[in-house]
Amino acid sequence: PLVLHVLGARPNFVKAAPVVRGLAGLGVRQGIVHTGQHYDALMSDVFFADLGLPDPIANLGVGSGSHARQTAALLTGLEEIVLTHRPDLVVVYGDVNSTLAAILVCAKLHVPTAHVEAGLRSFDREMPEEVNRVVTDALADILLVTSPDGLSHLAAEGIAPSKVHLVGNPMIDSLFSALPKLDPAPIKQRLGLPERYAVATLHRPGNVDDPESARELVEAVLAVGEQVPIVVPLHPRGRERLAEAGLVNGANLTIIDPLGYVEFLSLVRGAALVVTDSGGVQEETTMLGVPCLTVRPNTERPITITHGTNRLVTPATLPAAASKALADGAATPSGELPPLWDGAAGPRIARVIEAWLRGGNLSP
Ligand code: UD1
Ligand code: UDP
Repeated sequence: PLVLHVLGARPNFVKAAPVVRGLAGLGVRQGIVHTGQHYDALMSDVFFADLGLPDPIANLGVGSGSHARQTAALLTGLEEIVLTHRPDLVVVYGDVNSTLAAILVCAKLHVPTAHVEAGLRSFDREMPEEVNRVVTDALADILLVTSPDGLSHLAAEGIAPSKVHLVGNPMIDSLFSALPKLDPAPIKQRLGLPERYAVATLHRPGNVDDPESARELVEAVLAVGEQVPIVVPLHPRGRERLAEAGLVNGANLTIIDPLGYVEFLSLVRGAALVVTDSGGVQEETTMLGVPCLTVRPNTERPITITHGTNRLVTPATLPAAASKALADGAATPSGELPPLWDGAAGPRIARVIEAWLRGGNLSP
């Protein structure tokens, strides 16, 4: 049997690496299809190198565009790939447009699919990712869930429990693998950072696309900068809008290009505080025990609040929350990390997939 992994955006690469490794360990024939949704070297190539991912068998080069244009290019490109390679199973990851397009193409071509990171819900359909999550889970044949709340969300949507597997979080496997390489010293020295600093990442459309929202956010970040120097590895989305809103280099603020995976997590590991609107960074700070303030009205990862270091803030509440987090450090409410975030999710996912392939009575 042949398994294809469809990957397109930065967080996909991080989630897929442990699954690809796990399936390789079981001798399953597989290939990566890169959609080209993310294409800058710092948004893509550096992750293949840092995570030890094999080269893709194809890159569709779909690039950027409106949701309709990007999704249309993804659908057309992926249909051709699936018809050419005739995989026995396609694995999709997370909640990006590449995920949505892959699940739709496979559903129409009757190719079975597995969704890694199924069941997360923000219940906010203004987030493009929430739409992608709901559609992907409705169509997937195997749903691989990272945290227990996902089980009840899927049950409530009428998805048969026989399709659903609680397997833990492969993003945390990647973090565990990188841990021995995470040293804040070199990046701190390169950026001239003091002992105590904060890191911010910002890229959600709800924060960066509208000039007024961007201005409120930047004002809040600058207010945090009054308390602790901040370094911002800036995602390409919103780069200009945030600069127009005043997010520019200054005494307390260092704006840099996006960082590679190991350098970024090294920086986070040494930070006194993280401010973010990322999904994955809420999880990584939880595991690293770094206080995290998430500038969003909701999160599809509530376990990072109940079991981790994460708090939701608005631009208005961010400065005071930062001051409190800097004073308190990283106390976690339950003292327990999320269940199955143990570095072994990749092998668990690989076992579910391999058993499914065998049960499916497929040709060798
Ligand atoms: C996408 C995902 C989002 C995820 C994020 C991870 C969707 C709907 N959104 O958002 O869930 O959190 O990836 O980083 O799939 N750009 C570049 N170079 C690149 C890629 C993008 O300059 O390599 C710029 C382009 O101007 C582009 C913009 O970033 O228009 C947005 O890229 P896109 O892939 O559409 O969405 P993201 O905001 O990256
Ligand atoms: N990340 C990185 N360099 C950066 C910012 C983020 O390597 O400059 C990593 C981060 O550690 C995490 C992933 O990218 O593993 C998260 O991606 P992103 O925030 O773009 O997407 P989201 O999780 O919000 O979908």
